[in-house]
This record gives sequence, C-alpha cells and structure tokens, in this order.
Amino acid sequence: MKTVFDQTEFAGLKAKNRFVRSATHDGRADEWGHVTDKLMHHYVELAEGGVGTIITGLANVTDRERIIPGQMAIYNDSFVEEYRKMTNAVHEHNCNIIMQLVCNGVQNKSKNQGVLWVPSVIAEDTSMAEATEMTKEDIEVMKEAFTKGAVRAKEAGFDGVQLHVAHGYLLSRFLTPYYNRRMDEYGGNTENRARVVVEICRNIREALGADYPILVKINCEDFMEQGLTFEECKWICLRLQEAGLSAVEISGGTRLSRANEGVIRRVTPATESYFSQYAAEMAEEIDIPVICVGGHRNIDKLTDILNQTKIEYFSLCRPLIREPALINRWEKGDTAPAACISCTKCFGIETRCIFK
Ligand SMILES: Cc1cc2nc3c(=O)[nH]c(=O)nc-3n(C[C@H](O)[C@H](O)[C@H](O)COP(=O)(O)O)c2cc1C
Repeated sequence: MKTVFDQTEFAGLKAKNRFVRSATHDGRADEWGHVTDKLMHHYVELAEGGVGTIITGLANVTDRERIIPGQMAIYNDSFVEEYRKMTNAVHEHNCNIIMQLVCNGVQNKSKNQGVLWVPSVIAEDTSMAEATEMTKEDIEVMKEAFTKGAVRAKEAGFDGVQLHVAHGYLLSRFLTPYYNRRMDEYGGNTENRARVVVEICRNIREALGADYPILVKINCEDFMEQGLTFEECKWICLRLQEAGLSAVEISGGTRLSRANEGVIRRVTPATESYFSQYAAEMAEEIDIPVICVGGHRNIDKLTDILNQTKIEYFSLCRPLIREPALINRWEKGDTAPAACISCTKCFGIETRCIFK
C-alpha cells in the first residue's frame, strides 16, 4: 500500500514525502520583489514543518508588468544570489523548493507602475484603461522573460520551476476563450490558445536541459461561460508533456467562476479534495506525475485517493498557513484533520492566518 510519506522521485528530484506546499503569494518580498528577512524566515519555517516540496509564491518574470505588493520576482540577475541563500536554507531541512513563475496580466489592482497585459481587451477590462492587448512583440518579450526567469531560478538553486497557467493569470487567460479573442495564431482553436504555453515550456526545456523539473499549474476547468473545458485541458497537458513537462498540478476556477466553483472554496467533509476527480482522470491520461491541489484537510482521505487513483502528490495552501508544521504533526501520529477552517481570511498584504 502506498502512503503519503513514501519517498519518491520525479524528473530526478527526490521528495521525502508526497506533500507539496502549493504556490502561495506570501506578500513578504520588498516592493521590487527582492528577498526580505521575513520572506526568508517564512520559507525556513515551512521547510522545518515537514513538507517535502515547497512551491514558492508567484514570482514575476518581467519588470514591465505591474507587480503585486509583496510579490516575489526574478526579472534580472540581481535576484540570483539572494534566492540562492533561500534555497540553501530550505535544502538544509531536506526539503525541495520550486519557484512559481508568472506574468500577472490584470490580476492585480495595485497602483504600481507597469502595463496590464491581456491577450484581448474585453468589456470587463475597459474599466482599467491601462489594459493592453499584447502585440506579437509583447508575446516574444514575455516568452523570453519566462525562459530567462527559469534559467535564473536554476542558477539560484531552485529544484524546479512551475509555470502559473491557472486562475486567470496571464498565461491562463490565453487558454480561455472568453478572455482570448485573438484572431492570430495565439487565438481561436485550442491549439492556438495553448500555443504560447507550449512554446514557453519547450523553450525552457531547451534552455535547462533534459532533466530539470518543469511543472505547470493549470485549471482543469474555468467553471464559467466560455471557459476552458476539461477536455481541452487534457489535450493541452498531453501537448505539454510532448514539450518536455515533468509534472502537472491540477487546480481550477477564475474570478468569473460560478458560485462555489472557484479556485479557493469553503471546505466541508463532503467537499474535501475538491479537484481530486479531475486530477484522477488526468492521471489516467498522461504519463507524468499529477499533483492535486484544493481542499485537502484529512490524511485518511488522501491515503485513500493515493491508493485508488494514479494521483501521486498532494499540494496544500491554507492548511499550511494555519499550521506550517502540519506535515510533521501528521507524521508523528496526530492525524486529526487540518485545523484550517477555510475562511480564506489569510488573504492580505502579508498572508497569515488570523487564528494562529
Ligand atoms: C493567500 C493565498 C495566496 C495564494 N497564492 C497563490 C499563488 O501565488 N499561486 C497560485 O498558483 N495559487 C495561489 N493560491 C491558491 C492556492 O495555491 C490553492 O490552489 C488554493 O488555495 C486551494 O488550496 P487549499 O484548499 O489548500 O487552500 C493562493 C491561495 C491563498 C489562500
């Protein structure tokens, strides 16, 4: 029988257990995305808490876009040394750390300077006068920024990179028919809407060699009118696998998702592990490991999913904000469910649990 504490390996990366801290915007970087003491402390605390692999909060790959207050970044070489200190500190606890790479698009209401890139300007965006439909040149700039960001992340000692292709951030918007109305080769049918993500994945694979872990976090569905469908998502993941992807994390939802079908849901015993059916179906379709995120609160349920499906990893966000040492607690035998009550009051300038 498989257990959540099995030691495993994917794309050459050894993991001491099957738990992953899903990417969580921490709000602890400085105003340019640089490492601060409190950001460093936060990651060390997570690593000490027992999780096998950490995925960082979203880190911006370009300095053209508006940055979210406290967001991490990797848009030039000045980040490499300071992030190396962070990865070294995390590795001391036998924990992997993967950097999540992002372009924000319009998912950012801050007043910081920079453009708000979108695949197409839709009615919803016109209230934001700065929303800018990307030219082909912009797309090339963005593609190069992702590759350079990945190269820097590797130099800084990260054990892998994850492309944020979920939740309505810029790459995810390219996949969604509602947001992507382009008439060129980056819009239209599924292949065209997925083109930019596949190209970025292929470029990073070429730049970083055959073995470096490249992950994608993607929506199984957008759960909205004219949203990405699960059939499309499966087709795209197969193309990404061909382009050299190492693992996929299955999430879902955007800001426009139907009620109770968004990214971050209230969790009850009946709705725990809310994307697990999608992740299980995906794991039947593709040959690379599937990480399932969303609403994991109960170790017995995770053990059942692990043994009944081909899902190999489980990622958690809110439970580890409430209890950074949750995995140690479970491993020591206190298997009471996660204390997180999924109130989602952890969103803020600095992400923290108000009950801690
Ligand atoms: C405060 C907060 C910050 C988040 N930041 C990110 C992020 O930077 N990147 C990302 O892909 N998802 C982010 N998410 C979504 C989580 O990774 C996760 O997909 C979602 O919260 C569901 O998992 P959970 O039930 O374990 O919280 C964030 C969620 C919260 C609550």
